[in-house]
Parts: sequence; structure tokens; C-alpha cells
Amino acid sequence: MDQKHTQDEQNDVSVGFRTAFKSFATEAIHVGQEPEQWKSMAVVPPISLSTTFKQHGPGKHAGFEYSRSGNPTRNCLEKAVAALDGAKYCLALASGLAATVTITHMLKAGDGLVCMDDVYGGTNRYFQRIAAEVGLEVSFADCTKPELLKAALKPNTKLVWIETPTNPTMKVVDIRACADLVHEHNKDIVVVVDNTFMSAYFQRPLALGADICMYSATKYMNGHSDVVMGLVSALFVTLLFSYICCCCCGSALGGVPSPFDCFLCNRGLKTLHLRMERHFKNAMAAAKFLEADPRVERVIFPGLRSHPQHEVMKRQCTGCPGMITFYIKGKLEHATTFLNSLKMFAVAESLGGYESLAEHPAIMTHASVPENERSVLGISDTLIRLSVGLEDEADIIADLEQALAAAVSIKHPT
Ligand SMILES: Cc1ncc(COP(=O)(O)O)c(C=O)c1O
Repeated sequence: MDQKHTQDEQNDVSVGFRTAFKSFATEAIHVGQEPEQWKSMAVVPPISLSTTFKQHGPGKHAGFEYSRSGNPTRNCLEKAVAALDGAKYCLALASGLAATVTITHMLKAGDGLVCMDDVYGGTNRYFQRIAAEVGLEVSFADCTKPELLKAALKPNTKLVWIETPTNPTMKVVDIRACADLVHEHNKDIVVVVDNTFMSAYFQRPLALGADICMYSATKYMNGHSDVVMGLVSALFVTLLFSYICCCCCGSALGGVPSPFDCFLCNRGLKTLHLRMERHFKNAMAAAKFLEADPRVERVIFPGLRSHPQHEVMKRQCTGCPGMITFYIKGKLEHATTFLNSLKMFAVAESLGGYESLAEHPAIMTHASVPENERSVLGISDTLIRLSVGLEDEADIIADLEQALAAAVSIKHPT
């Protein structure tokens, strides 16, 4: 009996993590989806393509006026996501980057923004090349060390941008510790967490003290690699929400997604809990396989005990997504041979879909990060990022095994 218990525990990858958020699946399936909101009583929300809505008289509308400022299909999605994030408000935007730009638009020239040092390459590029150009004072800090974040806060700091786990080096930030520290310094600083890698199922930044939770919904939240979208949730009507949703001017920035994309993402949410559990299980198996393989230098997966912030991960998350990074032994040619040899994993950018993907951050997603910064962050020629999908565990491991065998058959130069 005891032995069985131990075996069960070994098979249950989520042992030691926070328990799943109460009624998550029920809310994903039902909140915002009430059939009673439609005259037809449709159980599945219809795709509402109309750009405009008839008014009973001038200014007397039944909730919708013009599709940029509000759309029935988008509304269903936003309500569901707000519930899943434990938020009051949610906005769906045309991409993750559109969400980043919309949030940053709260700031004005001369305001300070502190960003986690290792973030998605496009976020880094936007902050360094565009936000800084229009007068924002952008600085970077390793938020895994709260004292470095504290040192980076200045009297003009208005926004702190955290990504956890980071893309691609999987550093885990203690959200509660950072949010408390920032708000003690100045309660008005807006703490934003990019929750793309975790999805709402594994991490709730707003419950940990963050002011805004954002996603590239292109990834796990939609989960089917067929929609580009961003999501932003908040507990309070922050400046952002009054700025964007101000009733007199509608959606002032206008980066809204199409009703069809909202329909697809809303549908994707219905299986988010099932998908994330399977991503976790498959990724844990792949990470353990890679960690035990002599052809691999180092594996970075927050579900492994060897991860430097494994305890923080267990404390603040209910599990780990399918993201693994690892350093292959050798040089650039060994990494590229590994990638070229994969048969089931597709070599492609993006992540979080049902299919397994692999990429080379230094050449692909993070090519826009200056080389000297890449080397400080550890984004080297031998770093490979995997997005482990929902296929059968044995097939995932067999593909990694045969690609490693092909890569190490290259002779190491002496
Ligand atoms: C962590 C993270 N945040 C934001 C983005 C940007 O999202 P999108 O590609 O939907 O604009 C990405 C894209 O890869 C990402 O990985």
C-alpha cells in the first residue's frame, strides 16, 4: 500500500505544487457563455461579425454600439478570461505585442519603466528600440534578485514589467516578493506580469500582488497555433482600462482582435486545464530524459529539483508548462544538427500549441537582442528551446533521442 502510494506520487508530476484553482474548469466552460444572452439560446457563442449595432434611439443601445469598442463574441472571451485570472476586467487585443504596447501607452515621455532582464525578444526590442525612442526611460534588472529590482526603482518609475518563467532561459521570479517590494517603494507603480508561458491554469499573478496580468494568447491560452492574440486582465479599473474602455471614446487605441479569433480562443480555453496537465506530464518526462543524457550539458525546467528557483515555482504555481531549454554539448553545429534531425518536433518559432516545436533562440526568437546581452543572459549557440506538445510521451522522447544521436555523431573539434 505504502509502496503504491510512493509510486503514485512519483507518477504525479504536480506533487509539491499549489493545488489547482477552485472550479477552474467549470469557469472556463461556463463563465460568459450563458445561452440566455442570445435570442437563439445558442449553447456555443455565435461569431458576431457585425461592426455596428442598431440603437433603440440616439444613444440608447442594448450594450453594443460599434465593434471596436465592444463585440458580443469578444465579450464572451473577456468574461471567461477575467474569471480564470481572478480578475474583474479583461481586454482582448490583436496580439501579445499589441497588449504590451497598449499597456505601455499609459506612460508618458520621461516616465521610467523597469523590465526583467530576460524577456521575450519582441518585448525587449519594443522597450529598447521604440519605447525608449519616444522618451521612456527603460532599464533592465534581474528580478530573481529582489535587491537588484529595488536598486533599479527610481522616483520616475511608473511601471515594472516581469516575465516568469522567462523566455528563453526559464528564470522564475517570485511575483509576491517583487510586487510587495515595488508597492512598498511606491504604491502607484503598476506591476505587470507577462503570464504567457504559464497560462491562467498554472499561475495567477493578480492573486500574488501584480496589478496587471497579460498574455500572448497566441500561445497556451488559445493553444492550437491558429490565432494571434493578446489578453490583459486587472482587478481594478487601472488607468489602462479607463484609457482603453472610456465609454465616451470607445477603444481609444483600437488594437482589437477579430470576432473569429475571439471565437477560436474562447473555444481553446474550454480545454486549457486538460492541455496544461498533459503539457506538464510530457515536459517532465522529456526534461528528466534530457537531464540524464550525457550528450546534454544542462537542462533548465522549473519542474526539476535542479532548477535554481524550483521552490519558488512550487510555491506560486500549480504546475509547469511544456517549455524546456537545454544546452547541447558541443558548438553551434551540434545544436543545428540536432534541430535539423528532429522528425516529429517542427523547427519553428512560437510555443504553447498542441504540437511539439523546437527552436534556436540566438538565431530565431532572440536574434534582435544585442549579442553582448545575449551572452550575459546565457542565450548561447548551444541553447535550444523546446515547446513540448501533447503527443505520446514515448514518441516525444524517441524523437529527442534520435536527434541527439545524430548531433553527437559530429566529431568534436579538438
Ligand atoms: C512571453 C511572450 N510575451 C509576448 C509575446 C508576444 O506575443 P505575440 O506574438 O502574440 O504578439 C510572446 C511571443 O512569442 C512571448 O513569448
